[in-house]
Amino acid sequence: MNVAIIPAAGSGTRLGGSIAKQFLPLAGIPIIFHTLQRFETCPEIDAIAVALPISDIVEFGEEITRRDFQKPFHLVPGGKERSDSILNALEAVAGLLPEIVVVHDAVRPFVTTTQISAVIARASEVGAAILALPSTDTIKEVENGMIMRTLNRRRIYRAQTPQAFRYDLLLKANESARADFVPSEWMTDDSLLVERLGAQIAIVEGSPNNIKITTPEDLQLAEKIISPF
Ligand code: C5P
Repeated sequence: MNVAIIPAAGSGTRLGGSIAKQFLPLAGIPIIFHTLQRFETCPEIDAIAVALPISDIVEFGEEITRRDFQKPFHLVPGGKERSDSILNALEAVAGLLPEIVVVHDAVRPFVTTTQISAVIARASEVGAAILALPSTDTIKEVENGMIMRTLNRRRIYRAQTPQAFRYDLLLKANESARADFVPSEWMTDDSLLVERLGAQIAIVEGSPNNIKITTPEDLQLAEKIISPF
């Protein structure tokens, strides 16, 4: 049993208006339904858990039924930070006894089923695997507007989602981070929690199209990716 966890409980409205970015339309359909469709059609995914603002759960459930999704859905209240939403979802699906969980941001609608399958396959072998893109820019560490050091570009990858883990490993990583009082707002991706345990995490090469829609420019780019002409 492999379970997708889709955090979609952010209230991020930097794209303007009062609608959180994951519910804004892309080619006329809310971004999150593009994303969910990729998991619905991926043969390695058996169930899908979505973390949502608590006030949206009932309406979202109706929408899932209306759009004729077939896989079992688990709608979970989100938490204050992204990592709190992930932990809520992990606890909510414990009864399914998942072998692998695949975490993927609701706002990355261009993930492919091949990429989802590839991270699951690597996580089954290694314990953890994430989609990441080699950096084409040279990355500087900066403090107070001044460069502290330059990282070796050949070793730099930009972490994306999906990120797949053995269920027990990701749960332990989350529990350990909380026991050590790591602030939730530092937990910007899931693999960093697993790194803290000293576990191995494989890289699967991602794609530049797998953008995270955050700004109005990202949304314009997403419309171009979906219909280039
Ligand atoms: O905040 P960021 O852009 O990194 O959000 C990535 C994903 O995490 C989004 O899909 C967002 O809805 C989700 N999120 C969440 N719970 C929060 C904050 C963000 O599920 N408290």
